[in-house]
Amino acid sequence: MSDIKVLPKEISELIAAGEVVERPASVIKELVENSIDAGATAITVEIQRGGITYMRVTDNGIGIAKDQIKTAFLRHATSKIKTANDLDAILTLGFRGEALASISAVSKVEIMSAQKGQNGICYELHGGEEVSFEEAGCPVGTTIIVRDLFYNVPARMKFLKKDVTEGNTVAAVVDRIALSHPEIAVKLIRDGKTVLTTNGDGKLKSAIYAVLGRDFVGSLIPLEYEEGGLKVTGFVCLPSRCRPNRNGQFFFLNGRYIKSGTMAAALDRAYQNSAMVGKFPACVINLLIPAGTVDVNVHPTKTEVRFTDEHKVFDTVYRGTRQALIVGDRRPELQLNTKKPINIFAEKSEYSQANLPLDITPKKQQSPVTSPAEKPVAEVKPIINSIPISGSLTLNDSQVKENNSSFSQSFKSAPLYDVVINAPQTKNKNLDILVEDEPPKKTEPSIEADMQAPKESDILPDVNPLDIIYIGEAFSTYIIVSLKNSLYLIDKHAAHERINFEKLKSSLKINSQMLLTPVSVTLVKEEFEAVITNTALLEKLGFLVEDFGGSTVVIRAVPAILSGEDVTSLISEIAETLRKTGTAESKRIDDILHSIACKSAIKAGNITSKEELQSLAVKVLTSRSLMYCPHGRPIAFELKRSQIEKQFGRLG
Ligand SMILES: Nc1ncnc2c1ncn2[C@@H]1O[C@H](COP(=O)(O)OP(=O)(O)OP(=O)(O)O)[C@@H](O)[C@H]1O
Ligand SMILES: [Mg+2]
Repeated sequence: MSDIKVLPKEISELIAAGEVVERPASVIKELVENSIDAGATAITVEIQRGGITYMRVTDNGIGIAKDQIKTAFLRHATSKIKTANDLDAILTLGFRGEALASISAVSKVEIMSAQKGQNGICYELHGGEEVSFEEAGCPVGTTIIVRDLFYNVPARMKFLKKDVTEGNTVAAVVDRIALSHPEIAVKLIRDGKTVLTTNGDGKLKSAIYAVLGRDFVGSLIPLEYEEGGLKVTGFVCLPSRCRPNRNGQFFFLNGRYIKSGTMAAALDRAYQNSAMVGKFPACVINLLIPAGTVDVNVHPTKTEVRFTDEHKVFDTVYRGTRQALIVGDRRPELQLNTKKPINIFAEKSEYSQANLPLDITPKKQQSPVTSPAEKPVAEVKPIINSIPISGSLTLNDSQVKENNSSFSQSFKSAPLYDVVINAPQTKNKNLDILVEDEPPKKTEPSIEADMQAPKESDILPDVNPLDIIYIGEAFSTYIIVSLKNSLYLIDKHAAHERINFEKLKSSLKINSQMLLTPVSVTLVKEEFEAVITNTALLEKLGFLVEDFGGSTVVIRAVPAILSGEDVTSLISEIAETLRKTGTAESKRIDDILHSIACKSAIKAGNITSKEELQSLAVKVLTSRSLMYCPHGRPIAFELKRSQIEKQFGRLG
């Protein structure tokens, strides 16, 4: 091996630069963060060829003093911290004193900056070496131009992606900046074209509108919640507007964009049982937290942070989101087409046709007249418009529990005999606390979080059951009722399924019923193992399951609510769920309860008496929690009288 030597400055600079500057987007992030720290109220970003050949960031911040500009480009030179103690409570986005040094080491940089009452300076560096330094007339603030990124590091250059991909990543960075600072007017110009402008009016909704569009704004519920010195503000989406991926999730910490598994997990948990299976909530959430309780100095890019108390963060986001959903969720509206064409394509991606609760997708063949312009006024071409919003679900819903028992009993044959299997003693009525026997996880709420989750009376105060007029049932599936100035279409299976689910979830013990003839079910190996490792859990939920050898299990008892149901298919379904569901016990419990609730509910196509349908409709329309089936599908759609009258030409 050769001698050990300290690397020459040029090489060590390049290595250090690599940690901060990975691609054009990292340069833009650093420069814009500097502008924010400088108190700018307007920031313009311009890029060409995805930023690889040209990037410019202009701000109207305080500028850099003439005699400080050169120092700003030295490694570890910063005006933001002075002592080691300052690291414990960082209030600025930057603090490492590395960005300008790193950027200038791997590109050609030109900076023009002026402070109030001073002459401006123009300073140019190539690969970190001074090229020129002269006075220049320029407005107060700073402009930095970065050309030919990685021109002196060909190895790095090779890893850059296509211009358009790099440009998109830059755009994503600017989007996040705009969302985290609505008080700053942000502009992005891409290859000569302005692609984003925010007005800097300080309103988060305006920034969201500019960045994510009208459709996104229309799906949001405001969020504001504070506890124990932590505060969350922003918006979360209606459960019915969840998206196919997590791209709509934006988390900020004291105005800094961060990636946070803890916050994402808390959000998932808050939407559990109301979001459509396989869909993810969207949000723009800013967590305000005392600077001393978080470490942002974990990674050079500062998007990863470490909280002193992850559980506290989880609980605050979880409870805040639950509260927002309770207050802000609303029943979806079924809209008839108006003369104004509505862009349904934006909705398509969010709502796959398979998931539409009614067969009312706007297919051409469903309507004899297809062009919106030619459409006669009276044509009724239903579409789902800016889909719903919906409900808040209240766990442990006592009203549902009480009312439902007689109802569900009427749909099943009398049990042969009942055995009550007691759940283990717990402090909380909620089944979720069965997670007690597992160590607390980052992705699980604390027991206190669940207990203290905002709850509100499940009964909607402004609905009088006497105003609900039963009209009929369509296709042996949808109950039609009127209530004041609206018609409602209620999916009887979805409604009953949710009622059963709430009932099971709020039970301290689930009644179990021994089967006269035990049923043996042969499963595939992984599913068999999943069932066997979960027999204790299944027992809590009313199943007595035994290992019969091979891949066969014997079922000796099932939840009483299920009598007469097809045990084999239910166990196969639960086995598959258990195999797929991860370690979170509360999720496994909920998934099994979904299956039981679904199997024990009345089915679409079944014959149901008028009285039962009436009682179901009253329950749905008077309960806040009956908005979605446990898989997230809407239980009911509202059709306003005004919309109908518009279609008949009675209203303008
Ligand atoms: N746009 C700007 N307006 C005013 N001052 C600036 C601007 N950009 C940089 N500076 C000054 O230059 C210094 C160095 O900037 P640099 O980005 O390298 O480090 P930093 O922001 O302090 O820390 P970090 O490396 O974490 O970003 C800053 O501390 C700040 O004083
Ligand atoms: Mg900086």
